[in-house]
Amino acid sequence: MSINLSLPDTDSRKEKYEVLIPQIEALISTESDLIANLANIAAALKEGLGFFWVGFYLIKNKELVLGPFQGPIACTRIKKGKGVCGTSWAEERTVLVDDVDQFPGHIACSSASRSEIVLPAIKNGEVKLILDVDSDQLSDFNQDDQIYLERLMKIIEAKL
Ligand code: SME
Repeated sequence: MSINLSLPDTDSRKEKYEVLIPQIEALISTESDLIANLANIAAALKEGLGFFWVGFYLIKNKELVLGPFQGPIACTRIKKGKGVCGTSWAEERTVLVDDVDQFPGHIACSSASRSEIVLPAIKNGEVKLILDVDSDQLSDFNQDDQIYLERLMKIIEAKL
């Protein structure tokens, strides 16, 4: 069996999300294993959108623990309320950071990281995991990223 992403020939990230998200939904629809699905989602986002770092942290024993990701090696554990990831978990909301140096407590896994967006997946009122996307450019994420990535989190939540 061969599976390939079909990617549009465009510079518009919005158009890329439009084409990519339904393919991700289809890709994970027939698989029930969460880690397998998160691994493919990280790979699809890296391949489709070229993110510097993209991956998941899963809540295990009241800590965020590194899950499937694509990009440079990263910190393995983050406490609730710490860094951008721990803040997204604690506040149960998307956190968009234009300049990580201006975010109090930002955890610099990579010194090349400049901006970041983190989104939680919530089931039964509890955050189960977070998606973290890092860029080596300042202000690389905006409301469009938030809208499309929140759409993706809904798809992930449906599989939790
Ligand atoms: N910068 C994140 C830590 C995770 S890495 O960027 C992959 C934070 O402040 O929570």
